[in-house]
Amino acid sequence: MSILFSERTKTFHLFNQEISYVMTVLPNGHMGQLYFGKKIHHKEDFSYLQEKVQRAMAACVFDDDATFSLEHIKQEYGVYGTTDFRHPAVSILQKNGSTLSDFLYESHRITEGKPKLPGLPATYTEEPKEAETLIIKLRDPLTGIVLELFYTIFAKGGILARSVRFQNEGTEAVQLKRAMSLCMDLPDSEYDWLQFSGAWARERHLKVRRLEQGIQAVDSIRGNSSHEQNPFIVLKRPTADETQGEVIGFSLVYSGNFLAQAQVDTQDTTRVLLGIHPFGFGWKLDPGASFQTPEAVMVYSSRGLGDMSRTFHRLYRSRLARGYWRDRERPILNNNWEATYFDFTEDRLVEIAKKAKECGVELFVLDDGWFGDRRNDHAGLGDWIVNRELLPGGISGLAEKIEALGMRFGLWFEPEMVNPDSDLYRAHPDWILKTPGRHASLGRHQHVLDFSRREVVDAVYVMMKKILSEAKVSYVKWDMNRSITECYSEALPADRQGEVFHRYILGVYDLYERLTSEFPEVLFESCASGGGRFDPGLLYYAPQGWASDDSDAVERLKIQYGTSFCYPVSSIGSHVSVTPNHQVYRDTPLHTRANVAYFGTFGYELDLNKLAGEEIIQVKEQIRFMKTYRKLIQFGDFYRLSSPFEKNITAWMVVSEDRRQAVVGWYRTLNGANVPLGRLRLSGLDENLSYCVCEEGLESGACYYGDELMNAGLVTTENGAMDGTLSEKHSCDFDSRIYVLKAED
Ligand code: GLA
Repeated sequence: MSILFSERTKTFHLFNQEISYVMTVLPNGHMGQLYFGKKIHHKEDFSYLQEKVQRAMAACVFDDDATFSLEHIKQEYGVYGTTDFRHPAVSILQKNGSTLSDFLYESHRITEGKPKLPGLPATYTEEPKEAETLIIKLRDPLTGIVLELFYTIFAKGGILARSVRFQNEGTEAVQLKRAMSLCMDLPDSEYDWLQFSGAWARERHLKVRRLEQGIQAVDSIRGNSSHEQNPFIVLKRPTADETQGEVIGFSLVYSGNFLAQAQVDTQDTTRVLLGIHPFGFGWKLDPGASFQTPEAVMVYSSRGLGDMSRTFHRLYRSRLARGYWRDRERPILNNNWEATYFDFTEDRLVEIAKKAKECGVELFVLDDGWFGDRRNDHAGLGDWIVNRELLPGGISGLAEKIEALGMRFGLWFEPEMVNPDSDLYRAHPDWILKTPGRHASLGRHQHVLDFSRREVVDAVYVMMKKILSEAKVSYVKWDMNRSITECYSEALPADRQGEVFHRYILGVYDLYERLTSEFPEVLFESCASGGGRFDPGLLYYAPQGWASDDSDAVERLKIQYGTSFCYPVSSIGSHVSVTPNHQVYRDTPLHTRANVAYFGTFGYELDLNKLAGEEIIQVKEQIRFMKTYRKLIQFGDFYRLSSPFEKNITAWMVVSEDRRQAVVGWYRTLNGANVPLGRLRLSGLDENLSYCVCEEGLESGACYYGDELMNAGLVTTENGAMDGTLSEKHSCDFDSRIYVLKAED
């Protein structure tokens, strides 16, 4: 890895074994983009890559040079209005009403490692040698605004992390109206655009379309990164697939309003913008003040989508997630939500926990309903004080009982919310986000607390800290069950209302930071009505997130498959729930529910007492299996094999780092009659090793070389498909299998 600068040509070349990123100071002093892609040889001069064509209709920067128009020139942080007509990376409203700026290169510095982003989550290094950071300083002479562009290249993987910092060194306040984290101008538009979209209970479904002249975008202006879209997009060459071809992933380490956009211009240049959504955004920058954008991470791979995903997984698992649980196998949990909803007593909880313990569960989680007057979702949010009628011994009493069973205890909170029917709201009705003179809309009967205010965050912190200090709580599920409406903070003046959405998220991060530092061994799991805030920002604080409120195994195939494009298995909260399923009323076999949930953090979302004896034997077996293989599953290399968005068969696998072990998940949505011979081509194995392949639950299997399994494939159709000997287990809808592969010595 290296960052080289040529004084003569004013060219920067950042490279490692995988990628090169080249940019230069343009003749007008702006930063120009020259190349991003597979690693190329270093040279001092790449200026031939800059467009120098005289075009009809072009407006030009210099009176005597008809070739220099910013309209199609690739830039690092494009501005609008001075010959570039594309959507810009930055827009700054000045006192005289102008929004033009002219950021000129001033200097740069190169540091080892990676500086922290104040108040914001970001990838990091543990050793300085893991990465190098280039910081380019530009200045707009008229306003005195200084812009610093941060680029971190990691030693390993095709990763470039970027962010931007503004500093007002002028004498007048300005309003940042648009401050994207990343602007990436690519020289052509031969790409498919991949986005991960959906809705509540249907998150992160993969959608693919061809880039076209004009704008394509995904975004959220709901205050949370959202169920509807994820702050992650991929551009892939149309011929690229899981195992080959050029792809670039763009991911925003942020949990609030975002915009991810690609604009293709008339000359087929593609401008990707990623950052805080400019809609409604404004940040007043007083003289002397600074503003830091969230981080954006780009991953380039010439080896297809699978390689890109594994690069994100490694980075986010080990250099974004932090703390005690980062590298630890995640406890198998039993959550009482779908088992009881609000209808529980302490005895009932202990009964559920006892059965869970008997089956091998390690952590019992008490979900919503334990505090204040919370007997349904109309009351109590905000009052983080235990309801003693329900839990006479308090949280500490219940936690002790669970611990005495030999399990850990976990607890649900929804820190950012308040019901109007709560003591907190009665005491502080002004602590919610609401616009003066306007109706304050409820969502799930609750308001959103104004986390842009320090005293509000402090008050919630004090309540949560008390509970977590007094009782032995080992896990916290942090929920967030509505989007933000009537966004306005009473604590801020009119010219700072554009800051509220971002300040809110900074408040969330601040509370997370305080609690995770105060209770470093507590495992935090993020949640927002399932996957409404499943984003890299929260992974920095909570190494796992409840992926969706939809716990149906078949629905989960798409959700988990889509999620895997950016997020590691260790981050994906996934549980076995009852049938008929509570979201889609589907009956799926117990083995399939577990076979899907294995590829995540794993747990149960049901009362195991209600299962038949046969099923309990199966559950014990499942837990035993997960304990044996969870290290491999949660921390191995993940390969997608067959897509639920395209096929009746979904398949994926994880391979250990030394490639001696692998676990394959195979799922068939609908059964068929007289089906063709199924062969599943595996990935990531060592071609020269011979692997013994065992179906889960069977003692022995046949052995095949890695090259056979990867090229000829693993045969998945039973011999007895039509001879009547096929077991019912393997002749049903929603069937699935787990194969375990072990290399022979
Ligand atoms: C949200 C979560 C669920 C559960 C409920 C409790 O919907 O996603 O898992 O915690 O809240 O109210």
